[in-house]
Amino acid sequence: SLHPAPDPRLWPSVDDRLLRWIAATFGTPTYVIDENEVRLRCRRVREVLGGVRVVYASKALSCKAVLRWVHEEGLWLDVCSAGELAVARAAGVPDEKILFHGNAKTPEDLKAAHGVGRIVVDSVDELERIADAKVLLRVLPGIAADTHPALATGDTGQKFGLGEHDLGRALEVLDGRPDLELVGLHCHIGSQIRHVATYEQAARRMVALIARLGRPIRELDLGGGFGVAYTSSETDFDLVGFADRVTRAIRYECARHRVEPPQLIVEPGRSIVAKAGITLYRVTSVKHPFVAVDGGMGDNARPALYGARYQPRLLRDGGPTTRVTLVGRHCEAGDVIGDLDLPRDVHPGDVIAVPVTGAYHHSLASNYNQVCRPALVGVWDGTTRVLVRAETEEDLLRRDLG
Ligand code: LLP
Repeated sequence: SLHPAPDPRLWPSVDDRLLRWIAATFGTPTYVIDENEVRLRCRRVREVLGGVRVVYASKALSCKAVLRWVHEEGLWLDVCSAGELAVARAAGVPDEKILFHGNAKTPEDLKAAHGVGRIVVDSVDELERIADAKVLLRVLPGIAADTHPALATGDTGQKFGLGEHDLGRALEVLDGRPDLELVGLHCHIGSQIRHVATYEQAARRMVALIARLGRPIRELDLGGGFGVAYTSSETDFDLVGFADRVTRAIRYECARHRVEPPQLIVEPGRSIVAKAGITLYRVTSVKHPFVAVDGGMGDNARPALYGARYQPRLLRDGGPTTRVTLVGRHCEAGDVIGDLDLPRDVHPGDVIAVPVTGAYHHSLASNYNQVCRPALVGVWDGTTRVLVRAETEEDLLRRDLG
């Protein structure tokens, strides 16, 4: 038997033998992404949310193949930099299905963004720098979301969105700019949100705001943030509850305020790709209670940034277990992946797999300690393909001009 048995809520259906083969063939650490799981999750969110426009937040995981899958499944794309936009365009996503975000868009970002479907405006300054665009105004909803403080981007006192005063000024500017079409309002309450009620509250507030503005607002974008379970003791966000309660709250509030119900938009990132991803490591040393692997905070910054914890597995059978702390190779005390039970004979060369690593892992990786970033290997029905090759020391030196 495996230690412990894989929790089907955390793992995509990728065979352990295939994972071991990937580790042996492509080396470790390696990110694995299951195309089928990404596509199923795209379909599910579109099915459950019916007429809602679903925009994939590409910051969660962006590479040509993944963006192509998501696009083929009918989702729009959210990008927040010229770089993400370049990858989206390279993936063949048409401009009209791209929504451009960012609280500090640079002149270069805005130049590149010319022609995209929507620009989500985050400051009055930005309006001076854009022309001929359909815009959404991002407002700060002032909601304390039920998540880690670093992820509560919609709370008062955050840098994102327009406050009451700036919103008024932005509307004044827009009145004198017929080339800028105000199509909607946007808010993002945060990420890794657990409760539907937080969105209901945001939705009610946004409809009340639309009523106060007294002008036609066709689109209401409630952002992303649907939480996922990283370990067996956590639960996934209730998407069905969202579909039911949030759309009902919007209909109700619109009727009450006598405003036309807007097209609802959501921007999930994590909930599309997190569970489609697995990271493979090899054990490098055992020094009880520590078991060290050949990756860590360079390929997974989340424990160090948010105190995140994972539920890894050893990819082989084993005897009696002992409690260990899985640590990475980087020179920092916070470089910890999780606590788990591993067979007592765990030894260098063993392959460890960490589930729920599809979102904000590849995209949040760094070269700290000049460690090369891992490859991203796509899996589809038992076949594999390298989607992004592993970095080499040559890559590390390429930009270093001496
Ligand atoms: N829309 C906007 C405007 C956002 O800022 C974000 C995420 C999303 C959508 C997608 O949120 P999601 O559905 O993925 O939760 N690095 C952190 C997450 C940062 C999220 C930033 N914004 C982490 O690893 O937990």
